[in-house]
Amino acid sequence: MAVYKNNSIRKKTKTFNEAKITQYSQIANLALHNSIEYLNLSYSQKLCGAEGSIEFKDEGVYTYDNKGKRYLDCLGGYGIFNVGHRHPKVISAVKAQLDQVCLHSQDLLNPWAAYLASQLAQIAPGNLKYTFFCNSGTEAVEGALKLARLYTGKSQIISTKNSYHGVTLGALSATGRDVFRKPFEPLLTGFTHVPFGDIDALANAITEDTACVILEPIQGEGGINLPPAGYLKKVRQLTKKHNVLLILDEVQTGMGRTGKMFACEHDNVVPDILCLAKALGGGVMPIGCFMASAKIWQALTPNPTIHNSTFGGNPLACAAASATIEVLLEEHLIARSMVMGNYFLSELNKLKVKYPKLIKDVRGKGLLIGLEFESKILREDVQVKLFKHGVLVAATLNANSTIRIEPPLIITQTQIDFVISALDLILNDLKSKVKSFKPKAVKKAV
Ligand SMILES: Cc1ncc(COP(=O)(O)O)c(C=O)c1O
Repeated sequence: MAVYKNNSIRKKTKTFNEAKITQYSQIANLALHNSIEYLNLSYSQKLCGAEGSIEFKDEGVYTYDNKGKRYLDCLGGYGIFNVGHRHPKVISAVKAQLDQVCLHSQDLLNPWAAYLASQLAQIAPGNLKYTFFCNSGTEAVEGALKLARLYTGKSQIISTKNSYHGVTLGALSATGRDVFRKPFEPLLTGFTHVPFGDIDALANAITEDTACVILEPIQGEGGINLPPAGYLKKVRQLTKKHNVLLILDEVQTGMGRTGKMFACEHDNVVPDILCLAKALGGGVMPIGCFMASAKIWQALTPNPTIHNSTFGGNPLACAAASATIEVLLEEHLIARSMVMGNYFLSELNKLKVKYPKLIKDVRGKGLLIGLEFESKILREDVQVKLFKHGVLVAATLNANSTIRIEPPLIITQTQIDFVISALDLILNDLKSKVKSFKPKAVKKAV
């Protein structure tokens, strides 16, 4: 039975709020059925929602299910809730925008997109000045790759193994994981993948026809992988030497996540093209973008609609993003990300020392943290148990024994302590049960 076929809500003389709640409960009752029948069968069955947990509302650091259970959100919607869920300033900016212009006419100047572009030019590193707005991370990457090819007139693109840049065909061609790529081959030609962090491999891959190198400063879906110190700077020097553009994909690392507004600022590196999305919309509206210098942007000026998007730069999304940038700065959330991230990492490292046979590695920067377990099964077990304790986490897409920890940057020390205590209880319980991690017998040399 589809909800819209049930007219009872409209017929009854209920107040608006009552009607709304009735409607929600009807939708919630059908959530599992509708998800399996009409949305995504296997994913819906896999989700913890299969246990009956259905999203109801969210606020700050927390998400609540329809039974009133509260979850401390350390997943952050895969990195979109940097300013927290439903930040009041972002919400009121969008509400005010709803009363003026929602989607733009396309034929008049769009002051909201122009203002947001000016804000981005102020906070972006170096001479990055112009912005193209789209609606997601994968679109930001598509546009960046196209701009690099257009500007250089070359076609080879170097990316890294285990990277994740999105799933549309161009971004997928850059993505360095077979499980996403193989079923869709042949992908775009001209893509080469080198090991992340290996400057010599990158140097060897550059040819006369190389348009650009695309990198995440820290591989997010690859398992929160930090490159060796100095890598990004060397990449910048190498690309400059060969007149190759550097695209930094900061879709996940941007907007304060790693303790700087953009992760490239840790290394004082300025890319030629910068991709953003996820947290840019403040966890309220979807928005992505790519930015470049005035010089590179000239490639787009002869035909300004050569790359375009109907919804890109829409006033609602721009209002959310403008407010998000203000919140990040006014509430000093970037510094906070570093302080809280360091605290989280140090507490997790204590657990690693306490449970050396369960936790393989703890790594990260700011509040982009990876917690690697000895196996995928162990990671799944811990994830499900954390869920029961009221903590949301998830695996990274390319590394399934690693849990990502990406909470809102407003998380407090007390809330971090709550997560650490839950993990401690879970690991202590698992310690006695896990026998399969005995060190393998080392063959003696003959
Ligand atoms: C670094 C990076 N680039 C691009 C994307 C794709 O973003 P979206 O899912 O918004 O298309 C992601 C998504 O996780 C990402 O982490």
